[in-house]
Amino acid sequence: MLQLPEKVEIIEVGPRDGLQNEKSFVPTEIKKDFISALKSAGLKEMELTSFVSPKWVPQMGDAAEIVTDCLDGNTRNIVLAPNKKGIERVYMTDCKAVAVFVGVSNTFNQKNINKSTAESLAEVLPLIAELKAKDFFVRACISTAFYCPYEGKVNEDEVLALCGEFVQAGVDELSVADTIGMAAPNESYSLFSKLKEAYPDVLLTAHFHDTRKLGLSNIFAALQAGITRYDTSAGGLGGCPFAPGAAGNAATEDVVYMLHRMGIDTGVDLDKLIQAIQIIQPHISRPIESTYFRLNSVMV
Ligand code: HMG
Ligand code: MG
Repeated sequence: MLQLPEKVEIIEVGPRDGLQNEKSFVPTEIKKDFISALKSAGLKEMELTSFVSPKWVPQMGDAAEIVTDCLDGNTRNIVLAPNKKGIERVYMTDCKAVAVFVGVSNTFNQKNINKSTAESLAEVLPLIAELKAKDFFVRACISTAFYCPYEGKVNEDEVLALCGEFVQAGVDELSVADTIGMAAPNESYSLFSKLKEAYPDVLLTAHFHDTRKLGLSNIFAALQAGITRYDTSAGGLGGCPFAPGAAGNAATEDVVYMLHRMGIDTGVDLDKLIQAIQIIQPHISRPIESTYFRLNSVMV
């Protein structure tokens, strides 16, 4: 018997994961219009931007302005922060939801945030207690949970142990990521089943990159494991600048289309989502390859 929930929550990561890998700077006003159109399409949780070093990721250099102008009372507006300096920058805004991010793999962590996994945990875990005391929603993004571009296959037990550290620190949500898009559906099912059993009291979210076109299959497998929250990116944009070979996230429109066809509610209006993608399309260097967009967008 298929495990199909009535409802799935989509966390839109297009404005952050989707744009961070774009080499030419997308004008801040366009980013704001994109975010606003995504919200109009019914997306209720969203990663708006990240408070990382603008020297490392120039595309996210306008984070403060994005947050100032894009917060609203109807959406969980999340921002990424990798360290103390990033969290201090968040405190200067009215944002109340933060995502910290750490890789399971040491080498990936070193390339992504210039620290080993243990060093970044030592910095980030005390910050989580502080954020919770200040009533923040805290999400932990766990990168390289299946494969690392530098170290290869990642051990499930290491992923479970790292997630356990964050659960103990009090996070509200774990977003567990196939950073380079290499997981197969049996691996998705296996890891998410174990996470669901080990950590029943946190929100569990799956984050798939679609490098090998297995994003939808991996989501279907995670549904069978009981996962009802997915990070996706409008237009299938995205990728981490420090994860060579990673393509964009599973496209929001393809995921929503699949879920709707199975009778699962997402609250997302696909026509409005297409309009949001058309706002960003002229400003990005890569073609939009998602099937739903290709079949349903007419030139404007
Ligand atoms: P570092 O060079 O080791 O940092 O970078 P540092 O502490 O030595 O500081 C160097 C300079 O950066 C200083 O400025 C700091 O003030 C500044 P200077 O004195 O030279 O003028 N600095 C900052 N500025 C703004 N915001 C900050 C910040 N921190 C330090 N937060 C650092 C370490 C973590 C900053 C850097 O490596 C970095 O920014 N990395 C971010 C990389 C990134 O954004 N990766 C993509 C997001 S993760 C992802 O995509 C994966 C995910 O999607 C899940 C998945 O798919 O796996 C979430
Ligand atoms: Mg990602």
